[in-house]
Amino acid sequence: MHNKKILNIGIDLGTSRSVIVCDNGIRQAIPSFIGYPKDAVSQKLIGGDVVYGEDAIKNRLSVHLYRPFDKGVLLQDKSDKNGEEHIKASEIARSLLRKLIAYAFEEEEDKNLLIRGVIGAPALASLNNKKDFLEIADGVLDDVMIASEPFCVAYGMNILTNALIIDIGAGTTDLCRMHGTIPGADDQITTFKAGDYVDKNFLELIEKKYKEANFTVNMIKRFKEENASISEQGEKLFIELPINGKPTSCDVTSELREACRAIVPDIVEGIRKLVATFDPEFQNDLKQNVILAGGGSRIIGLHKEIENYMKKTLGYGKVTRVEDSLYAGANGALMLCKDMPDEYWDELKTRK
Ligand SMILES: Nc1ncnc2c1ncn2[C@@H]1O[C@H](COP(=O)(O)OP(=O)(O)OP(=O)(O)O)[C@@H](O)[C@H]1O
Ligand SMILES: [Mg+2]
Repeated sequence: MHNKKILNIGIDLGTSRSVIVCDNGIRQAIPSFIGYPKDAVSQKLIGGDVVYGEDAIKNRLSVHLYRPFDKGVLLQDKSDKNGEEHIKASEIARSLLRKLIAYAFEEEEDKNLLIRGVIGAPALASLNNKKDFLEIADGVLDDVMIASEPFCVAYGMNILTNALIIDIGAGTTDLCRMHGTIPGADDQITTFKAGDYVDKNFLELIEKKYKEANFTVNMIKRFKEENASISEQGEKLFIELPINGKPTSCDVTSELREACRAIVPDIVEGIRKLVATFDPEFQNDLKQNVILAGGGSRIIGLHKEIENYMKKTLGYGKVTRVEDSLYAGANGALMLCKDMPDEYWDELKTRK
């Protein structure tokens, strides 16, 4: 037993954004990017050995830029589980986690506090790569538990049963069925069609239409986040892209809609599977309570489109969206952290 004061934190380590929420009221979100200077000049420019988040993106020409996760797992050479690549990916992720934890303290870290955290990880990683996450947190957090992101979202909304959470992130879309207990492998489905997939599609469609245009995925991602919609109505959308160096207005209305739509079939198929394999007496309750979370849930018209598909394939469907898509996962992780009794954490330690 300890007699230190406890700082509870909830963390959402995402492919594109990492979020921390603490029970001292502090919360912060940063893009999941880390940059290391390429040479002495860039070191002077960034004023140190490492930059994080927006600063890393801003300085991307002068730093080696990394994202620690891809498609729901730690970036690594899969054939080389204990090799250099893996160690490097772990270090990058640990460094990002340290940066997040530093936000929890207004000044220097208080060594008298016991830092206890629940890390929400992509569903796939939380099932198969739990060890990687525990390794990352080792030495950064005193007590740690890994939970799947969609489960954290549900827990944070106090929705523990008869609900289907769909977390549409950057690397993965995670579907998770809630039925009153901690969800297991059978309750979760992961698809790789999420925000990054939309960006890739959008890029290819624009390249096809405007062959001369010169642009990066970053430029169109921002445009997507401001305009994403799959509704047929609405104004025409024009993006300004350089063609032979000259900014030119390009009509991308149908390209953006098509790119966003590309993630729908897999989501609907996932819903169908999770409903069809659920206890038949409760299937209707599940259809009644489908909740979209994650950055992708903000695509305008997406919840209606999924409802329409559900009506066609399952006879009925009611789909809503979480209000605060950025913080929903980390908020839930914090609640889970606070709700777990001391004995539970002690037991985790003895198992280690
Ligand atoms: N308004 C918006 N419309 C459409 N897409 C958006 C919007 N805002 C954010 N996104 C997209 O949502 C994705 C990020 O969502 P989120 O922050 O939930 O992902 P993540 O947790 O980092 O990723 P993952 O859960 O896959 O690890 C990005 O692809 C981003 O472009
Ligand atoms: Mg996420």
